Amino acid sequence: MLLPTTTVALRRSKPAAAQPSSKTGLWELPGTWRFDPSSHTCPDPSSKPISSLKDGPSSVVVDCDLRGALDVPIGLPDVVWRGGVDLNPIDVTDIDSLNWLEALVWPEHDERRARLRAAARIVAQDPPLLVAGDLNAEVANRAAQAPGDATLVVFHSAVLAYLEVEDRDRFVDQVSALDAVWLSNEGVAVLPELAAQLPTGIAVNGDFVLAKNGVPVALTARHGQYYRALPTT
Ligand SMILES: C[S@@+](CC[C@H](N)C(=O)[O-])C[C@H]1O[C@@H](n2cnc3c(N)ncnc32)[C@H](O)[C@@H]1O
Repeated sequence: MLLPTTTVALRRSKPAAAQPSSKTGLWELPGTWRFDPSSHTCPDPSSKPISSLKDGPSSVVVDCDLRGALDVPIGLPDVVWRGGVDLNPIDVTDIDSLNWLEALVWPEHDERRARLRAAARIVAQDPPLLVAGDLNAEVANRAAQAPGDATLVVFHSAVLAYLEVEDRDRFVDQVSALDAVWLSNEGVAVLPELAAQLPTGIAVNGDFVLAKNGVPVALTARHGQYYRALPTT
């Protein structure tokens, strides 16, 4: 679900990615997975599925059902630097830590568990820079480490809900001040300033809001199963 947004943001530039928070580093590797937007159903039955993208060198396939009027990605970004922060990062090269993470996947979700294992194997070969800490304390440090000639992309998914409102505001202020493309993917109630920009009357039944630089661009499923582009004004 990040791919259409990053592709639009970064076309013809070299991306660097920083993620607060990043439990495992798996999300820093959008150039490593193969995306297959095909197998899930979007809650808006009137919209048409966008043609499938199958790309990349990876055997790890990330399904995402792309719907609506969007610039269909034609390839994967070439990410030149990656860094992340989490209160408690998981070292996927440590078998006990990986087993613990796998135990959080629901027992009947064999496909998710297999994908996690395959992704962890790839990450273990070239782990991104992950630091333990609070995102407000670390986001500027991580951003400063990115190569100066790359387009920095700061993205986060399902993390700001765990912060107090004033800490969310502090994070938004910090990231807005960076010379970066800011991609946020959070529950609709988490950042009211984004919710206020959604088209009136749109159904948001449990969706996340994916926003670029503080402007909503899509409604998404929390685990990336679908991406429903919002109309542009
Ligand atoms: C639902 S998970 C989302 C994981 C993340 N999207 C990823 O791809 O790994 C929420 C994560 O937020 C982290 N977290 C919560 N509060 C945080 C904070 N103040 N600073 C950094 N990470 C935090 C937790 O440790 C947890 O890993």
